[in-house]
Amino acid sequence: MSSKDKTIGVIGSGAMGAGIAQVAATAGHKVIVYDNNAAALAKAKSAMWALLDKLAEKQKIKPEAAAEIKTNISFEEDLVHFKDCTLVIEAIVENLEVKQKVFAQLENIVSSGCVLASNTSSLSIASIASACTNTSRVVGIHFFNPAAVMPLVEIIPAITTAAAVAQQSKAWVESWGKICVMAKDTPGFIVNRVARSFYGESIRMYEEGIADIATIDWALKQFGGFKMGPFELMDFIGNDVNFKVTESVWEQFFFDPRFKPSLTQKRLYEAKLFGRKSGRGYYDYAESAIKPEPLKDAALGKMIFDRVIAMLMNEAIDSVYLRLATKEDIDLAMTLGVNYPKGLLRWADEIGLDHVLNTMSSLYELYGEERYRPCLLLKHMGKEKQKFYTQQMA
Ligand SMILES: NC(=O)c1ccc[n+]([C@@H]2O[C@H](COP(=O)([O-])OP(=O)(O)OC[C@H]3O[C@@H](n4cnc5c(N)ncnc54)[C@H](O)[C@@H]3O)[C@@H](O)[C@H]2O)c1
Repeated sequence: MSSKDKTIGVIGSGAMGAGIAQVAATAGHKVIVYDNNAAALAKAKSAMWALLDKLAEKQKIKPEAAAEIKTNISFEEDLVHFKDCTLVIEAIVENLEVKQKVFAQLENIVSSGCVLASNTSSLSIASIASACTNTSRVVGIHFFNPAAVMPLVEIIPAITTAAAVAQQSKAWVESWGKICVMAKDTPGFIVNRVARSFYGESIRMYEEGIADIATIDWALKQFGGFKMGPFELMDFIGNDVNFKVTESVWEQFFFDPRFKPSLTQKRLYEAKLFGRKSGRGYYDYAESAIKPEPLKDAALGKMIFDRVIAMLMNEAIDSVYLRLATKEDIDLAMTLGVNYPKGLLRWADEIGLDHVLNTMSSLYELYGEERYRPCLLLKHMGKEKQKFYTQQMA
C-alpha cells in the first residue's frame, strides 16, 4: 500500500488536531477530522482554508497544492466516518477519562488493523491504551506546536504496544517529512521532561533574589545562545500551559523534588497572568510598558548560565542512564523540539562532564536538596572525564 492510499483520522480540531491534519493532507493522504464541538469544527475548517489561501498567496505553496490539500481534508461530525482509517491520531482535551472514552468508542468503529495514536503531552500512553481491548495497537505520536512547522515528533510505545506498531508509526510520520525520536512512556517523554529545569531553576534563582527576570533571560541568551530566555519563553508558551505541564510531570514522578513547581508560577497562573496571550505574565506586554533592563554583569550571568545548563544536562544524562531514549535522540529532541542551540549531551562533552559534575555537586552540597543530586552516570563519567561522543560536530 503506498502511503498516499491511507486515510488518516484526526480527533479534535483544536490547535494540534488542525496542524496534524494539515501535515497529513499535505503529504497526500485523505484526512478526516472529527470534533464533538460543531462550532470548533467549523472554525477549524475556515481557519485552515484561510491559512492555505494565505500560503498560496504568499507563494509558499502552489495554488494547486492548496486546492489539493483542501480536497484531501473532510470535517465530520460523527466518528463512524473513521471506519476505513489506517491510522487515527487523537488530539482532544488533555483529560484521561475523556480520552479513554474516545479510544474505547473508536475501537468499535475502525478495522482491526487500524493504529490508534494519542498526541497527549503528559498522560501515560499505557493508561490511555488500557481503555481498549487490543492495547497492542495503541501508541503515542507526539507532535509539537505548531505541528505544521515544528519538525520533531516523539513516538512513544507503551508497555503494551507492539514493536511493529511503533516502527510503522515512525515510518509513516517520517514519510510526512517529520523527524522522529523514540521515547519511553515516562512523564513528559523526552522534551517536556528534560526542559523542565530551564524554567524551574531560573524561577528558583529569581525567587532567591539572585537576579531579576530580565537578567536571567539575558544570561541564558548571552552565555547559552538560547533564542529566548526562560521567562520570555514561559510567557510565550503561556504560564497556564507551562505550569500545568510542570505540575503533571512532578505528580507523575511521585513528587520528585527535581520537578517541583514554583509558587511564583502558580500565582501567575491563578491570577490569569498567562503571558503574551493575556497581555501580562512575567513581563508586561501593554504598549506603554517599559521592558526591564538586565544587569549585564558577566560574572553573574555566567553563574546563572552554569547553574541552569548543569541542571538541564544532569536531566539529559539521567535520561540516557534510565534508557528513556538514545543519546542521539535526546540531543535531536532538544534541538528540534525546543530549539536549543545544541544537543545537551554533545554540549556537555564540550563544557566537560567534570565541570558539569562539579557544578551539580557544589549545588548539592550547598543546598542539601535532592533536587541537585548529580545522577549516577554523570558522577561516573565526570570522574573519568569521559565524553558521550568520540567525534565533535564539524
Ligand atoms: N497545544 C500544544 O502546545 C500541544 C502540544 C503537543 C501536544 N498537545 C496535546 O494535544 C492535545 C490537544 O491539544 P490542543 O492544544 O490542540 O487543544 P485544543 O483545546 O486547542 O483542542 C482540543 C479540541 O478537542 C475537542 N474535543 C474535546 N473533547 C472531545 C471529544 N470527547 N471528542 C472529540 N473532540 C473533543 C475540542 O472541542 C477542541 O476543539 C492535548 O492532548 C494536548 O496535551 C498540545
